[in-house]
Amino acid sequence: MPAVLFVCLGNICRSPLAEGVFRHLTRHHAGEMLVIDSAGTGAWHQGEGPDPRSVAVAARHGIDISSQRARQVVAADFTRFDVILAMDGSNLSDLRRMAPARATAKVRLFLDAPPRDVPDPYYGGADGFEAVFAMVEQGARRVAEELGIPV
Ligand code: 4NP
Repeated sequence: MPAVLFVCLGNICRSPLAEGVFRHLTRHHAGEMLVIDSAGTGAWHQGEGPDPRSVAVAARHGIDISSQRARQVVAADFTRFDVILAMDGSNLSDLRRMAPARATAKVRLFLDAPPRDVPDPYYGGADGFEAVFAMVEQGARRVAEELGIPV
């Protein structure tokens, strides 16, 4: 079973949703060494819970992400995880810059087909979070399929 890390900028809006949805989709494999986490390229929100709007949209879809805590990506993530999935192109280029020479993880975009970027909903309204949730749900299914995890 692979170790999968979802990454956005703050680790309070998008990647906590991706982690929560992916955990939910793969919950029947929870006992099978499947490692799932999320992190941010930035440290501004380190230790904080997800944005209340992300918690709310997840809850509307029956998923509880309230116990997650934000953390920044660290060098060890690039060897601990098999796959690191960036929520947008900016996160991807930041990750490539942060990767140590010994990195073994495959780093790529979470959505590998258009629209490719999951837009940052932080400065928008609640509808932005619903749109992000829908994109994350589709993307998470695709990722599980690509990793050969039956959901
Ligand atoms: P996220 O959204 O990257 O999806 O967690 C953001 C959250 C906070 C900030 C930026 C993006 N911020 O600048 O504080």
